[in-house]
Amino acid sequence: MKVALVIPAAGFGERLGKGIPKALVDVGGVPLLRRTLNRLAAAADFLETVVLAPPNEVERFRVVLEGTAASLGRIQVAAGGATRQASVARGVEAVGDAADLIAVHDAARPLVSAETVRAVLEAAAEHGAATAASRPSDSVREDRAGGVTAALDRSRLWLVETPQAFRRELLASAHRAAAARNAEYTDDASLVEASGAAIRIVETTGRNLKVTLPVDLRLAAELM
Ligand code: C5P
Repeated sequence: MKVALVIPAAGFGERLGKGIPKALVDVGGVPLLRRTLNRLAAAADFLETVVLAPPNEVERFRVVLEGTAASLGRIQVAAGGATRQASVARGVEAVGDAADLIAVHDAARPLVSAETVRAVLEAAAEHGAATAASRPSDSVREDRAGGVTAALDRSRLWLVETPQAFRRELLASAHRAAAARNAEYTDDASLVEASGAAIRIVETTGRNLKVTLPVDLRLAAELM
C-alpha cells in the first residue's frame, strides 16, 4: 500500500503565546514538527510527505525539515490556507497520483504511538476511511433548551484525534465537494463522512496529546 502523508502545520498557535508558529516551538530542544514527523517516520514508510506551513514561513519550515528520515519519502512544504480544512485541501492537491492512501496528522500531536499510526493505515486500507480516537475520561453533558444541560452516555462517545487515513480519491473528492458547498469541518473524518462514507474508529494506544496551551508543551517534553 502506497501512503502519502499530509501534515497540517499552518496554524499560528495563538493559544501558546510563543510568537512563532506552533509547529516550530521547541519541545525539549527539538521543534514540535520534527518531533511529530520522527514518530510517524518510525511507524511506517511513506511515499511522500506534504507539510502545510503558514504562507510567510514556507522557507523557514524547509530549513527545519532538512535531513528528516528517509521513510517520510519526498518532502514538500506548501503554503497552508486560512483554516485547517483549507490547509489539508492544499496538501491533498499536492499529493501525486501514485499514492493509494493519504494519512492526515496534525503537527500538534507529537506523541502519537507507532501502533496507532499502523492500525489507522491498516483500517483505511481495508475500509476506505479511518481515524484514531479515544474515549472521554470525563463525564460529558450537552446543552438542551432553556439553559438546561443533560448527561450523555460517555461509553458511546469518542474523542476524535489524528492520524486519520483515507483512500486518496475518496479524500480528494470529499474536499472538492465540501469546498463547493462552502461547508467547514474541524477534521477530515467529518468531511469524508458528509460525502457518504463510513468511518472506522481505531482506539488510540498511549497518550496522543494535542499541544494547545503552554502547559501542554511542558507535558509533551516530559512524556517524550
Ligand atoms: O488549531 P488546531 O490546534 O485545531 O489545529 C490543528 C492543526 O491544524 C495544527 O497542526 C495546525 O497547525 C493546523 N492548521 C493548519 N492551517 C490552519 C489552521 C490550523 O494547518 N489554517
